[in-house]
Amino acid sequence: MTQTTRQILVMGNWKLNGNKAMVADLIGALKAPAAECPNVAVAVCPPVLFLGQAQTLLADSLIALGAQDVDLNSVGAFTGENSAAMYKEFGVQYVLVGHSERRTLHRESDATVAAKFAVVQTAGLTPVLCIGETDAQFEANETQAVVERQLQAVIDHSGIHAFNNAVIAYEPVWAIGTGKTATPDIAQKVHAAIRTFLAGFDAAIAAKVQILYGGSVKGASAAGLFAMSDIDGALVGGAALQAEEFAAIIRAGA
Ligand code: PGA
Repeated sequence: MTQTTRQILVMGNWKLNGNKAMVADLIGALKAPAAECPNVAVAVCPPVLFLGQAQTLLADSLIALGAQDVDLNSVGAFTGENSAAMYKEFGVQYVLVGHSERRTLHRESDATVAAKFAVVQTAGLTPVLCIGETDAQFEANETQAVVERQLQAVIDHSGIHAFNNAVIAYEPVWAIGTGKTATPDIAQKVHAAIRTFLAGFDAAIAAKVQILYGGSVKGASAAGLFAMSDIDGALVGGAALQAEEFAAIIRAGA
């Protein structure tokens, strides 16, 4: 399947990093590279506390805003949580669901992730569904079974049409924050398998959905990944905190 109709999307997941000065510096430094590459969609996901600051700083740019997680509930006695409706007030467009750190550290099940995906979509925002296998699952050749199970949970909950307005991020857990990027060939094989799996339900949706790769993407590795026919961008952690690295990834998608 070709990538001709799919735009490259480069998204930075800042995780639990940053302060007001860093938010201002980083966003300031990303505006020019993003503007130079208008064919690349760019988004950043700062910690919730900095969404307001980021929204103001991004007002005159094409860089979109994302959040890293969402609560299942829209309002009420849920101490410490944030709702999709709150994100909307801050101009958020994308919300990550099911990042492996949430699945592992917060015990989020496939069913919980699928429910969060639906909550984001119902609010009119775009869920970015993170999927991927652990090191042990990779070694046991279970990658395809794992990502299909994670996708199936969303299809069971919301139906295949939910992928009409969603992004998928394939992030092998063994590559996240480890410096071990999947080779373009390994990543492409999984991305193609994801698209084939979705095509079993709806070929048009499968051909249209953006599938990002995530896991130690750097400026130097991005072009090789983006050259693959089923890789439509990157979800970037560590390198998204360094303006020059993130800018290089954006340029690699142009
Ligand atoms: P990394 O993180 O680029 O630091 O590996 C990617 C992610 O967790 O989204």
